[in-house]
Amino acid sequence: MNPKTRIKWLVSILLLALAALGGLWFVTAPGREAAQRGGEKPIILGFAQLGSESGWRIGNSRSVAQAAEKAGIQLMERNAEQKQENQIKALRSFIAYQVDVIAFSPIVEDGWDNVLREAKEAGIPVICSDRSVNVEDDSLVACFVGSDFYAEGQRAGQFLLRKMEGVPGPIRVAEISGTLDSTPQRDRARGFRDVIAQDERFEIVYSKSGDFLRSLGREVMKDILRSEKIDVLYSHNDAMTLGAVEAIEEAGLAPGQDIVIITVDGEQGAIDLLKQGRINCVVECTPMLGDLIMQLAQKLAAGQEVPRLIYSEEEVFTEFDEDLLSIPPRGY
Ligand code: AHR
Repeated sequence: MNPKTRIKWLVSILLLALAALGGLWFVTAPGREAAQRGGEKPIILGFAQLGSESGWRIGNSRSVAQAAEKAGIQLMERNAEQKQENQIKALRSFIAYQVDVIAFSPIVEDGWDNVLREAKEAGIPVICSDRSVNVEDDSLVACFVGSDFYAEGQRAGQFLLRKMEGVPGPIRVAEISGTLDSTPQRDRARGFRDVIAQDERFEIVYSKSGDFLRSLGREVMKDILRSEKIDVLYSHNDAMTLGAVEAIEEAGLAPGQDIVIITVDGEQGAIDLLKQGRINCVVECTPMLGDLIMQLAQKLAAGQEVPRLIYSEEEVFTEFDEDLLSIPPRGY
């Protein structure tokens, strides 16, 4: 092969490799094309999702992708597959690419100071969506958008007080918690405890993480049934609850009757079990954060001020509701 042909070959291979890389990174290219036709440079948003552990999470990723497309924002999405080191790498790749704004859902609260300082030094504003970080310098994050997990834990506790009115104690509670040291795990546990602590009949006899996974929810529930006699299960998300319900039924017990079940999220599967009387209470946590994230990204990219904290409005669905059958399809 003569030197000219060799160079042509090398250039073609390089272009192919770049095209393939582009295909992996850019989930919504139409936004950029549309904006370019209008002569405007599109906003590039780097979004580091933490994983795909639950139906909630899949709904959240879909909400972000659809909202980006609608807003004409170019989305560079990475999925960290439940590993903090992958999420840190994703953030560094966004910084190297000089995206306009970064949004991410931190898998745990601690360990972000260095990478967020790098983003700040590069002049890239960061949105925490869904979960929060625990950093020394608050200015490393522009804003948080998501649920008030502490309030969700309180709502779970308030349902339990109502459900157990007049029931003699002790009332034995088991908890299957989410990913250790994540914001929902910490705050849902704290909110729940703060409410039930008002009533000394309640005793948390068991608490273990199921990492927000259906398979682990099932395993942890089997362990609970082997080691404890319980009256109540408080599970930090629907995915784990669905696994736990399977284990309870396999043990010959009736979920919702032999064991009172309180869960968080509001996935369609959990709402269906609530309607059938196999779950007693579903505390809503909405994954539909895409539109809000895009509005914040647009403001931040334009150098405008944004609120530091935006909580989603959420409700509670329980066996006491008269209109359970009219709950519209959940979309996740
Ligand atoms: O951070 C939100 C939580 O993470 C949801 O409750 C859960 O389903 C998800 O995995």
